[in-house]
Amino acid sequence: MTSCSTKPQDPILPSIAHDIHSYANPAEARVRHLSLDLTVVFEQQTIQGVAVLTIDRASHAFGQLMLDSRALQIDKTEISSDGATYRETPFGIASPDKILGSLLHVALAPDTKFVKIRYSTDPTATALQWLKPAQTAGKQRPFLYTQSQAIHARSWIPLQDSPGIRVTFDARIHTPAGLKAVMGAAPEVSQTPNEFDFKMDQPIPPYLIALAVGDLAFQSTGPRTGVWAEPSILPKAAAEFADTEKMLEAAEKLYGPYRWSRYDVLVLPPSFPFGGMENPRLTFATPTIIAGDKSLVSLVAHEMAHSWSGNLVTNATWSDFWLNEGYTVYIERRIIEELYGVERAEMEASLGYQDLLDELKTHPPADQILHINLAGRDPDDGATQIPYEKGALFLRQLEQAFGRARFDAYLKSYFDQFAFQSITTAQSLDYMRSHLFVPDPQTKVAPPAIDVKEWVYQPGLPGSAKAPVSRLFSKVDGAIADWLQGRNVDTASWSTQEWLHFLRGLPEKLDAAQMRRLDTAWHFTQTGNDEILDQWLLMAVRNHYEPAYARLEEFLMTVGRRKYVKPLYEAMDTKRAAALYDKARPMYHPITQATIDALLAARKK
Ligand code: BES
Ligand code: ZN
Repeated sequence: MTSCSTKPQDPILPSIAHDIHSYANPAEARVRHLSLDLTVVFEQQTIQGVAVLTIDRASHAFGQLMLDSRALQIDKTEISSDGATYRETPFGIASPDKILGSLLHVALAPDTKFVKIRYSTDPTATALQWLKPAQTAGKQRPFLYTQSQAIHARSWIPLQDSPGIRVTFDARIHTPAGLKAVMGAAPEVSQTPNEFDFKMDQPIPPYLIALAVGDLAFQSTGPRTGVWAEPSILPKAAAEFADTEKMLEAAEKLYGPYRWSRYDVLVLPPSFPFGGMENPRLTFATPTIIAGDKSLVSLVAHEMAHSWSGNLVTNATWSDFWLNEGYTVYIERRIIEELYGVERAEMEASLGYQDLLDELKTHPPADQILHINLAGRDPDDGATQIPYEKGALFLRQLEQAFGRARFDAYLKSYFDQFAFQSITTAQSLDYMRSHLFVPDPQTKVAPPAIDVKEWVYQPGLPGSAKAPVSRLFSKVDGAIADWLQGRNVDTASWSTQEWLHFLRGLPEKLDAAQMRRLDTAWHFTQTGNDEILDQWLLMAVRNHYEPAYARLEEFLMTVGRRKYVKPLYEAMDTKRAAALYDKARPMYHPITQATIDALLAARKK
């Protein structure tokens, strides 16, 4: 790893926070723009082509551009001072680190401004999932998509893969006949049917660079919003996300203009390892949120919220991840409140709080801190409920203490102040100190006493933390008690959130008769809502409820969303888990594979 620079500020390159998860030397040479010309080859599971990197350079002399790479095959490197004539230059690849991949260093001449790299990706590239036709909805054509966050962009593009090093880019993608390419970028008019051109003029962190290729179609949901999906699921997806335009308007009313012009959602095949990914202009989403009743669209609100918290104002390093996710969960619930009312928002806050309490028990104190120390670890390991739900709870506490009017205005000013920048926890807290923790401009009343340092730098939850309270959930609690007594309960008006609270609130151990009673009354094994199904299957595994096993197997053979898959394998006995995983593993994305591999390996010990 490169050591922290203590040199005085360079006149050309403003200093940025040191990132332990990148080999880049941004104090000397900083990539500012990428120009990609890539061909997607399904037969060999490779993306091959050329990346031209435009670099800014420090005033002092140095001879190397340091880049991140992982399992890339580098064929040739060239340099240029004008972007027109290139000459070959030596490069070197250091031996790979398990987490960081390999340092790729390219020799520069004193006048070099452009570096051209001819390369191809490896079938093991951690950002890529190559799907066979059988893994798609249409079953006819293959599908490819990328997932670059946190540090996987380096497995498909040689670049400086640090969230503090923003880049603009343009790209030309060549696809096989009949397959479309989409990117988190603005499409350009293309010359030929299998050439797709894109442009991203706003500087973004590399973890937001995204590509998908498949049999894709588009349907509009509003002037600035729409859905991309395989044709057979497009109508259902567009109906589910019909409120997207309204969400955008709600977010803008609170936090200022949406700055990325379009907001579309790409629905991926079910193996996508996450719920959603906030790629700019084009959120990537799991199809498991299509429940038929819009009850799981908080995920869209979440990814959209990242258009402010994350994509506009970005964590400078992965230790600052809570600035992305905590702020986003808070904003997500504000959008949900605007569209669907305060009771829905409070139920979701309450479910999130329960998740947080459960997870706090499983993490050592050092990992319960918002500003987490990730030395020697994969930044993906930091993506727990702590940055999400503890972060959101902190902001909620600030909102309650300062009042909505002041806190909303504060957040809006924060996004304006740091727009298109990557910032550290310390920078965000400095701004909070000077712009929020000041006497009320109107009343001159002193700011409330909130121990910000305790929230951000101490484990657990501060004693003053307040649990969200849902009136509707109190009623569900009553229903749980009634049901356990054998009484009938009236569930006619229940939403997905109430059902989730009901199932989670039941005792962990239920006997066969109780499981049967639940399933007979409400048909959980047949539910079309994957969030409810996941919860039910977990109960089925824990209580050995055999009538649900076929559905469990079918679910694990198609759905690769890690949040669902991991707890299910965890709950199964080792033998069953291993047997099922043996069959299902090829369906999963490398990220989910790595998680379950580790889980089962640890069990064998
Ligand atoms: N940016 C995250 C997904 C992510 C985080 C990918 C870290 C890789 C590393 C995305 O915005 C997210 O938080 N997705 C959640 C859904 C959300 C509603 C909590 C998910 O995928 O579960
Ligand atoms: Zn997120």
